Amino acid sequence: MPNQFDLIVLGGGPAGYVCAIRAAQLGLATAVVEKDKLGGVCVNIGCIPTKALLHSAYVANLVAHDAKELGVDVGGIKTDYGVAMRRSRKVSEQNSKGVEFLMKKHKITVVKGAGTLAKNRTVQVGKDEYQAGKAVVIATGSRVKGIPQIGLEIDKTSVISSDEALFLEQAPKTLAVVGAGAVGCEFADVFNAFGSKVTLIEALPRILPLEDAESSDVLTKSFKKRGIAVFAGAQVKKATVAKDKVTLAVETGGKTERVEVEKVLMAAGRAVNTEGMGFAEAGVQLTDRGFVRVNPGTLETTAPGVYCIGDVAGPPMLAHKGSREGVFVAELVAGHAPHPIKYDNVPSVTYCHPEVASIGVTEEQAKERKLDYQVGRFPFSANGRARTAGETEGFVKIIRDKKYGEILGAHIVGSHASEIIHELTVARENEYTVEEVDLAIHAHPTLSEAIAEAALDSMGRVMHI
Ligand code: NAI
Repeated sequence: MPNQFDLIVLGGGPAGYVCAIRAAQLGLATAVVEKDKLGGVCVNIGCIPTKALLHSAYVANLVAHDAKELGVDVGGIKTDYGVAMRRSRKVSEQNSKGVEFLMKKHKITVVKGAGTLAKNRTVQVGKDEYQAGKAVVIATGSRVKGIPQIGLEIDKTSVISSDEALFLEQAPKTLAVVGAGAVGCEFADVFNAFGSKVTLIEALPRILPLEDAESSDVLTKSFKKRGIAVFAGAQVKKATVAKDKVTLAVETGGKTERVEVEKVLMAAGRAVNTEGMGFAEAGVQLTDRGFVRVNPGTLETTAPGVYCIGDVAGPPMLAHKGSREGVFVAELVAGHAPHPIKYDNVPSVTYCHPEVASIGVTEEQAKERKLDYQVGRFPFSANGRARTAGETEGFVKIIRDKKYGEILGAHIVGSHASEIIHELTVARENEYTVEEVDLAIHAHPTLSEAIAEAALDSMGRVMHI
């Protein structure tokens, strides 16, 4: 039978396509159903193109503010968002083609079209029916959302989302970003570097509210220094959208501020894709919050043989969390005993400048949970490598268990935080202590030395400060 597979994945994003690769590696006949480009939001309108734009933003800031001091005077600078945008599209296309190649390499069938789930692990795509002998895996992801209740419906012109921001030909003169999670902070950084006057508005008391308060503080100061207006603890009460401008009434510190901008970028969270795909009919139930309900130990939904991974299975909505779930389900379905997913050990990274990365608990959470902890810190201003690059903003902070020295949480703000956090991810995964982190010899001069120093500081033995 031509349309018979062992495993069918609905959705070809980083959760779905990684699941398919692992399943194929384990000998399962595998198909991926995708209605758009392979790679999903991450590759096409998410992680990859934004990181390309953030690199352009980094270069713009470097040339504008630091190059002369480094002995490289390039004269006046002129930025062009359209050029950066088109480069980011090329990078994105390369990555999507890369996923196509991987599907071919692993002999995975890619079915182009919108899939609908039916009973007994059947997937309908147009007139064709596909049958999964072992499992169907839902990996349908998430999408941007507006706040229509206050007049902030995404109209794709004045009120935009990251989807549209990634395709603008030029940076708006003025921009309000509503929501200061990862999306909001990353785009505030990008458009500020490309000359927009940016106002960042966050309802909770501080930007990146899920990060450690010290990380938020450093980023707030850095953003303000670069001219981004930061309103935290601020509520957009009303938005009035006129031709070519949006007026926001923002309640902050007991007063109402009027913010008039060319465009508003909505970055106040995402909605999951669960509608119109036959989930209820196939017996797949949702949680009260609208995610697909899964058994946390197996990621199986309420329909036997139907699994769910990635954003649609619940937070954190992160590509790497989805990919890991994909590997887990593929191994489970193939009859292996996969390594359990440790949801408290998923690194979080915001790629603005300075970068913000973390793993494990924040100090606030350590207090709330009444953990017996000790904090160690090391600022990049005292790190040789950071000084050589002239990038001395930020710090490494390690929260360790007082008695055993195990790493409960780690927070890094600074250059390359997204890369060096993984030393602490490996340490936590293997339950290394701060002492063991320091015992591993760190090359000199490197940013990673700040991690060893923060580990030492937590034991009262810091050296270079
Ligand atoms: P988010 O949920 O992380 O942040 C949204 C922020 O908007 C929150 O801080 C929230 O308090 C605030 N907010 C909500 N309503 C508001 C209002 N009316 N006025 C002002 N502020 C308001 O969502 P975000 O940033 O849109 O990202 C969506 C998902 O994608 C998240 O799970 C995020 O972690 C993930 N993502 C991850 C990235 C990364 O790892 N670098 C990059 C982009 C997205």
